[in-house]
Amino acid sequence: MRAMFVALLVCLSMAASAAEITFSSAQRATILSHGPWPPRIVADPSNRVSGNGAAIALGKRLFSDPRLSSTGTVSCAGCHDEAKDFTDGRRLAHGLMPLARNTPTVWNVRFNRWFGWAGAVDTLWGASVRPILAADEMAATGAHAVALLLGDGELTNLFVSAFGRQPGATFSNETGGDDTLVAVGKALAAYQETLVTRRTPFDDFRDALARDSDNGDGAAMKRYPAAALRGLKIFVGQGRCSVCHLGPLFTNGEFDDAGISYFTGPGKVDKGRYGGIGLFRLSPFTRHGKYSDRPDDAMARLTQGVALRHRDWGAFRVPSLRNVALTGPYMHNGSLATLRDVVRHYSEIDVERLHTDGSAILRPLHLSPEEIDDLLAFLASLSDRTSR
Ligand code: HEC
Ligand code: HEC
Repeated sequence: MRAMFVALLVCLSMAASAAEITFSSAQRATILSHGPWPPRIVADPSNRVSGNGAAIALGKRLFSDPRLSSTGTVSCAGCHDEAKDFTDGRRLAHGLMPLARNTPTVWNVRFNRWFGWAGAVDTLWGASVRPILAADEMAATGAHAVALLLGDGELTNLFVSAFGRQPGATFSNETGGDDTLVAVGKALAAYQETLVTRRTPFDDFRDALARDSDNGDGAAMKRYPAAALRGLKIFVGQGRCSVCHLGPLFTNGEFDDAGISYFTGPGKVDKGRYGGIGLFRLSPFTRHGKYSDRPDDAMARLTQGVALRHRDWGAFRVPSLRNVALTGPYMHNGSLATLRDVVRHYSEIDVERLHTDGSAILRPLHLSPEEIDDLLAFLASLSDRTSR
């Protein structure tokens, strides 16, 4: 390892303590790898209405329409509420029945490789069909979706503009109306693809650092709060957070064990990624499946070949940290109410509770109260607003 610990000096003249924070060249490279933002936007090859205006308009309407559920009472937006950064603010989700998982945000969801906490689906449209059919969420059917679309002239028109055919026109016994349902999922996906968070204070700092390979753009860098900078140092340094929360999305897009219990009740477990791969193998709504508009692309081959490993048991998707300060409660089971609880969890993590065959990256950091505040200031700098 090249230990070049003075590759970068950031002098904070404003800070009374004259804080001088240094990063190694490896840490500097890690910081730069958390950008640039926004990433390049590419259409989803598995969804032929990705980026289509009529599909986006149809998806936006359906997203907040409770008529899509069998009872007419549950909408996507009921759980993914825009006013709450597309979450519900609850510990655990509640549709037609209570669920055992926390509702993730759908901000930046277009950049996912896997969807849901366990990655049971590898398409955004499949992840959008799933809650429509799920008995505990919306409990509807393909036939129900066809009836809704045909019964509302504006929805019919948008559907025809987007897909060039009438809803239900290709209804088949084999799929029980699934192809219209898949089209609904693809329209919902086209809408959700528009939900990309804006730039943050961290992004401005990161770009200033990138502008000058030796010293960075000093004036622009000084606008980044000193506490956030100290927190960043922990994030890419001793905290090793960037090992899993990497890249512009602050996630490797994969699954790991962060020491959160996978018991959902006495004797009941959430198998996490292990169960997710099992469901994925049975799902018809995959990139390589018959409803995909490009079943043979490289990403489809990659996800199709996923292997089931013992360490996937109780592993959950590494969440993105963009806008994370706005989307509590946290973790797959909503068990940590605030970001301070999350940071304390990592600081005092019980390694006995981590899988023995896991990645062995996490260890207790024993952060001081000041360091906890610094890490929180850094996480807050990943938001595109300071409050809702
Ligand atoms: C009852 C609350 C609820 C409703 C209603 C609901 N969702 Fe979700 N959503 C969730 C939960 C919980 C998850 C995590 C599921 C999992 O881990 O398998 C999720 C996951 C997702 C994901 C994957 C996000 C990610 O980061 O991987 C997408 C996309 C999504 N929902 C879209 C929708 C759409 C579109 C609708 C309406 C058709 C909808 N949801 C309805 C609660 C809900
Ligand atoms: C070994 C990989 C790994 C490392 C290292 C790691 N995390 Fe995580 N992180 C995860 C996983 C996996 C989850 C989701 C766990 C779950 O829900 O059971 C998570 C969840 C989170 C969440 C909650 C996000 C949400 O929307 O619920 C935050 C915040 C977070 N991590 C911050 C950090 C910080 C800060 C560090 C460094 C101190 C860190 N992580 C280190 C894997 C990791």
